[in-house]
Order: sequence, then structure tokens, then C-alpha cells
Amino acid sequence: MSIFEQPSPEQTAAINGAITSRHSMRAFLPTDVPRALIEDILRVAARAPSGTNTQPWQVHVLSGAALQRFSARILAVYDDPEELATHSEEYAYYPREWGSPYIDRRRKVGWDLYGLLDIAKGDKARMHDQHGRNYSFFDAPVGLMFSIDRVMQQGSWLDYGMFLQNLMIAARARGLHTCPQAAFTQFHRVIADELQFKPEQMLVCGMALGYADPAAVENSLVTERAPVEQFTRFIDA
Ligand SMILES: Cc1cc2nc3c(=O)[nH]c(=O)nc-3n(C[C@H](O)[C@H](O)[C@H](O)COP(=O)(O)O)c2cc1C
Repeated sequence: MSIFEQPSPEQTAAINGAITSRHSMRAFLPTDVPRALIEDILRVAARAPSGTNTQPWQVHVLSGAALQRFSARILAVYDDPEELATHSEEYAYYPREWGSPYIDRRRKVGWDLYGLLDIAKGDKARMHDQHGRNYSFFDAPVGLMFSIDRVMQQGSWLDYGMFLQNLMIAARARGLHTCPQAAFTQFHRVIADELQFKPEQMLVCGMALGYADPAAVENSLVTERAPVEQFTRFIDA
């Protein structure tokens, strides 16, 4: 579609479809994602707006042996309780104090996912393993890490979200799926070391990218959304 073109009904349906068919996928096929395709997605994603066109995104693309080494290093920490206790997030992604409706939504998505996977409440070992699948990018062939320059402020994090969403929609437009991953933030020290971040580079989050496994039960999770009237006020008089 060009800048002033009115979208055809088919184009509208395709764009809506790319947005609404984006669900976080937690099981991927080993199917390779060519580098040219990743570059194409990133080029489109980088059309995201940003305050004064600052473009705060920095992307680290992992695949092959580098991805295996990266995952193994994090999993070694994750599976060692003593070592794990020494790792914590550098920034708070979630509220420090949870209240309704957020805690209710958080619990629902958690139990819906564990329910599909038949993981019982209190089954700490299986919950640990399932959460640990984050660190192998749910077997996706491509793992993305995102960093930002520490001088950038909250506004740039807003811009970053637009870039990430663009990336996920551009992936859908090419038949790929994603899972954005804050789970990596706990391991920012390991990641900064492994990816040789400069001191000014701060980890934002990670993301799995690849072809989703349609047979995996966890990929059948469809999350709810509040209706428009619940989060919107129309003020016209
Ligand atoms: C920035 C961000 C970080 C997330 N981190 C994780 C994560 O670490 N692991 C995970 O399984 N899902 C993660 N999610 C996925 C959310 O759980 C998911 O977006 C939400 O439940 C809504 O479901 P949907 O993405 O399928 O629409 C993250 C989502 C966002 C936007």
C-alpha cells in the first residue's frame, strides 16, 4: 500500500489478520528462517515511529551454534538454585504491587497455559521446566535480543514497543510467529557478557522467531481481551 492509497477490503482484512493472528507461540518447528527474511522483517519493523526519529532499537540476532551456546549458558544458571538466586532484573517490567484487574488477568493466562499443558497447581518441577523453555526460545531457530542505550528515557521505551509490535506483525505477514520474552531480563548480566554489550547497552527483552508448531497444545492458547467500552471513554459534549 502506498502512502495515500485507500486500502481495498482485501488489504484491510490482510492487515487485520496479521495483527489478530499474532499470538505468543511457545513451540516452534526447526524450519530455518533465512537471514534475508529476518533482514526484511527488521527493515519493515524499523519504520516504527520514534520521538524525533531517535530509533532507539538495537537488535542482536542469534541462531545456530551461537543460539545453542547462549541458551546453554542461561539454562545452566536457571537450573542451579544457588546461582539463580543471585540474578535479578535490572528494570521492573511488572508492577511491584499487583492489584485487580491485572493480577486476575495474569493468573488467568498462567493457569490457562498450564491447564493446556496439564501442569497441576503446585507442580513446581514442571512449572520450572516450562518456564525454562523460554531460555531455548521454545526451540525457535532464531532468538532475538533487544538492547537500548542507557541514556534513553521512558519515551524511547514507548518507541521500542512500537518497533517490537511492528516486528511481530511483519513476521506474521510472512507466515512466521513470535513470542516476546521478558523472561530473559533476569539474566541481563549473563546476556551482556555473552553478547559483549558495551557498558551503555541495556537489555530490553528477548523474542523467539520462527515457524510455530501447529500440533503443540500450548500454541492453541487464545488469550482474552477486555471489550473496547471497558478501557475507553468517548468524550464528545
Ligand atoms: C514485552 C513482553 C514480554 C513477554 N514476556 C514473556 C515471556 O517471557 N514468556 C512468555 O511465555 N510470554 C511472554 N509474553 C507474552 C504474554 O504472556 C502475552 O503477550 C499475553 O499473555 C497475551 O497473549 P498473546 O500474546 O498470545 O496475545 C510477553 C509479552 C510481552 C509484550
